[in-house]
Amino acid sequence: MANQPFLTDIQTIRERARQHIENGAVTEGYRADRERVIDILNEALATEIVCVLRYKRHYYMADGLSANIAANEFLEHAQQEQQHADWLAERIVQLGGAPNFSPEGILTRSHSEYVEGDTLKEMIKEDLVAERIAIDSYREIVAYLGDQDPTSRRIMEDILAQEEEHADDMAGLLEGLQRQHQSNA
Ligand SMILES: [Fe+2]
Ligand SMILES: [Fe+2]
Repeated sequence: MANQPFLTDIQTIRERARQHIENGAVTEGYRADRERVIDILNEALATEIVCVLRYKRHYYMADGLSANIAANEFLEHAQQEQQHADWLAERIVQLGGAPNFSPEGILTRSHSEYVEGDTLKEMIKEDLVAERIAIDSYREIVAYLGDQDPTSRRIMEDILAQEEEHADDMAGLLEGLQRQHQSNA
């Protein structure tokens, strides 16, 4: 059996690794459009920040029957969205970019919306809608990244999986509320 190099021979990889070491994690073999990936990750970051704010608002404003269960979910989601924002910011820096935390334009950069909602039911519904927007846009980001940037793709996949759980949680809460209204009627 000949020594089959699986991709690039190791000597070339070793030589390349010594060039542009100031680029840190971004090596010569990085195949994605780095600037574009940073922009996309910044849009996801804005989306997460908007989600943190919306869930926090809902957590503090949840009131009425079954508000306790919903409030706990809102708080847990706010914390997880914050975690997503941190993962994204960390990755953006690894790619040599700068995470955009500027409040200016955050809603424009964000994919999901910030809707306060007057009633518990409206809050849950808006959160569900926001999650569904995030799910669709993150799925597209995962597909775009493909095998060009597996680390960013994995981060987006992990976040996507949690957004799907969030959507499922909100759908469950909404259903519970509707059942409750029916039995009270
Ligand atoms: Fe998130
Ligand atoms: Fe979420």
